[in-house]
Amino acid sequence: MNDTFLMLGIESSCDETAAAIVAADGTILSSEVASQMDIHAAHGGVVPEIAARAHLDAIDMVIDAALTTAGVGIDAIDGVAATGGPGLIGGVVVGTVTAKAIATARGIPYYAVNHLEGHALSPRLVAPVPFPYLLLLVSGGHTQLLAVHAPGAYERYGTTMDDAAGEAFDKSAKIMGLGYPGGPAIERLAAAGDVTRVRLPRPLKGADHCHFSFSGLKTAVATRHAALADADDDAEPADLAASLQAAIADCLADRARRAMNRFATTHGASILVIAGGVAANRAIFTRLEGEATEAGFDLVVPPAWLCTDNAAMIAWAALERRQDPDGLDFAPRPRWPLDPDAAPPPGRGVRA
Ligand code: KG4
Ligand code: ZN
Repeated sequence: MNDTFLMLGIESSCDETAAAIVAADGTILSSEVASQMDIHAAHGGVVPEIAARAHLDAIDMVIDAALTTAGVGIDAIDGVAATGGPGLIGGVVVGTVTAKAIATARGIPYYAVNHLEGHALSPRLVAPVPFPYLLLLVSGGHTQLLAVHAPGAYERYGTTMDDAAGEAFDKSAKIMGLGYPGGPAIERLAAAGDVTRVRLPRPLKGADHCHFSFSGLKTAVATRHAALADADDDAEPADLAASLQAAIADCLADRARRAMNRFATTHGASILVIAGGVAANRAIFTRLEGEATEAGFDLVVPPAWLCTDNAAMIAWAALERRQDPDGLDFAPRPRWPLDPDAAPPPGRGVRA
């Protein structure tokens, strides 16, 4: 295998336009991210049409920046990978078309990468994490528990029946007038709060499966937030923020514990990886760390820049199956489950 093979990765499935150059031996030559956070903050969330236009505006510049930082020209690139889904289709199309154009012009292989696979394999880019391991992916778009067996081989233990954990933070923050993104704002406010003043539900805690549900929490936050203004309510917004954070941490810990028990039955205790923006939350990290230790698992959290959306993880996922490129007829997929055979959660709709 040629370790100097250079992969250009492109990510554009949500609100970050990113490009990275990673060598086959895992050396990260560059990883550039242009965030649309300021553009979407005014709307309290990501607006798909605005996101697609912003990706189109930024993508050339971001790829240029990745090449410049890496100190190489486009002629040095040996393969090009772009997120092919799941995600907001306008953004995915921008990244896919760009990658196909580069692959065609240069005559190099093209890889359509599943965004979730990017997150799932990301810990292996920075540490020797052996297969199989258990992954808790907690972002603004996804909340999933996956057994990661090998590139392309995933077993989904659980997913959310409604909102993602990050969405629970974002929607609650919007209700409380804290702005977007909600997670960091809630975490800051929660630091001054008392978790005993506001009681919030723990949806699905103790359920005999590994799925999640967070939409009830957001509704409870709305009800409780409206009551804060009442003269006889002595709770403060900080107390509500602290209770919300504790409730989300409790739900994640309970579901992760169940998944670790299931994983250990077949494979023995191993490694629990947490990825996604919500992994940046200190209270959640500490709660999951305790849970993993009790279950005999080691906890691995990739560095924050690799946990949130980036293109290095997309380049790496392609490098893990370098000999197996995709055809230029690949069509972007708004939904693309990692484990198509996974049992759907009980109740309402399923997220990819
Ligand atoms: O992985 P990510 O950067 O983007 C995707 O959603 O793909 O995750 C963003 C999510 C947002 O919902 C944000 O509120 C949440 O991660 N988040 C946090 C924290 N930092 C980011 N949630 C809780 N605590 C944080 N410190
Ligand atoms: Zn993501």
